[in-house]
Amino acid sequence: MNRLLAPILCLLVCAGAVGIFWDAPPIAVSLGALIGGALGLLAWLFWDDWRATLLIDWLRRLQNAPDDTPLPPPRLSGVWRMTAERLTRLLRQQRQQGKRFSRRLEDIRDALHASPNGVIMLNGAGRIRWLNRSACRHFGLDEARDIAQTVTHLLRDPIFVAYYTQRDFSHGITLNSPFSTLGRPLHLTVHIYPYGKRSLLILSQDTTAIERNEAMRRDFVANVSHELRTPLTVLAGFIETLQTLPLAESERDDYLARMARHAARMQNLVGDLLLLSRLEASPPPGFEQWTPIRTLLAACVAEAQALAAVAAKASGAAQHVIVFPPEAELDAEIAGSADELQSAFINLANNAIRYTPPGGRIEIRWTPTPEGGAAFAVQDNGPGIAPEHLPRLTERFYRVDSGRSSESGGTGLGLSIVKHVLQRHDARLKIHSTPGAGACFTVVFPADRICRI
Ligand SMILES: Nc1ncnc2c1ncn2[C@@H]1O[C@H](COP(=O)(O)OP(=O)(O)OP(=O)(O)O)[C@@H](O)[C@H]1O
Ligand SMILES: [Mg+2]
Repeated sequence: MNRLLAPILCLLVCAGAVGIFWDAPPIAVSLGALIGGALGLLAWLFWDDWRATLLIDWLRRLQNAPDDTPLPPPRLSGVWRMTAERLTRLLRQQRQQGKRFSRRLEDIRDALHASPNGVIMLNGAGRIRWLNRSACRHFGLDEARDIAQTVTHLLRDPIFVAYYTQRDFSHGITLNSPFSTLGRPLHLTVHIYPYGKRSLLILSQDTTAIERNEAMRRDFVANVSHELRTPLTVLAGFIETLQTLPLAESERDDYLARMARHAARMQNLVGDLLLLSRLEASPPPGFEQWTPIRTLLAACVAEAQALAAVAAKASGAAQHVIVFPPEAELDAEIAGSADELQSAFINLANNAIRYTPPGGRIEIRWTPTPEGGAAFAVQDNGPGIAPEHLPRLTERFYRVDSGRSSESGGTGLGLSIVKHVLQRHDARLKIHSTPGAGACFTVVFPADRICRI
């Protein structure tokens, strides 16, 4: 309404002014009023156009300015002021909505970056639209460099290329990451999912640990079955012989003694397996129970001497020389499970006696460490262990010489039990050995587990 009134008013005022103030013949006055009115209208149109230009200028600056720049609207009146106000409000709303959207988008992007699974989004032409950090880690891609690249130019594994080009995405594939090495394997499961019109989503998952656990489980079952099968087969053979052949009493006794040995071996195996699963399932021992080192080493001494005596009797050779630390050096207490620690110490001492030929020298030491902890060590002068075996000694069922070890009744679980017990007591096992010159197994306890008395 205002926009119609203003030019009419302008026209009338100019025409009226000419009519009132120009003293001339009526025809000239009418013509003058007409021209005055037209000029007034023209002036108004110019003024109106100038205000429209101001508004458009402001809008243009607003469009090019960064989001947060405060750009107040030009000082206008009438319909232009209302338009400017409406536009300001609309813009503010749009900016707020835009910010909300980009915050949400950033949130989703951050969550996808945090995912351990790789995510790659492809457009209809097979070019990378977006990818997360795990995908970069899995496939050796670069977040900034590889956007808009064709995926098959970057992921060149023939298994992936065949999967991608055949377009049968009902199943996933497994492949090795380009970073996979023998020492540090990286196995991936990759699945492509179509979405939208022609877009594709590639998901990759690191399955190395799952595959390793599965292989370990398979190995473990195979090992346990193998370890049990051998004595069981021998036992079955002896039973059959005893049942079918008329044997002399001495032969029978010999067979029964052998059967008892194999039964004991199976018993040891089952006992060790149960102990291992108990160690895995129970919470680590705390600091409530403190045991004098003297008590633990006394039990170790007794066991070692008994085993050395049995070994000497069986071989008919000289007994091992076992050297123990002087009593005075054992003035400390240790926190943890006395039973577990004792079994670990005895295990190490027994190994030294078992794998060192009769007459050999075994030294057991207890020494404080500079950090305030203490070290328990068993040193022998036996055949030693070749360096390639050292990293695998604490694996379940691992034996350097399986023939010799099982001959002596070993299950190959001793050191893996020791490792578990030590881990539960925050201790470390260090193994040093020079083939031909013996081995030294050292257990280092941290300061908070040791108390000097
Ligand atoms: N002091 C040592 N000297 C030489 N070899 C050793 C010594 N201690 C351990 N080994 C080697 O490490 C292997 C693993 O030892 P571990 O104690 O785990 O099993 P084991 O002695 O065969 O059986 P277990 O202790 O369960 O009865 C042994 O088979 C042996 O070959
Ligand atoms: Mg052993």
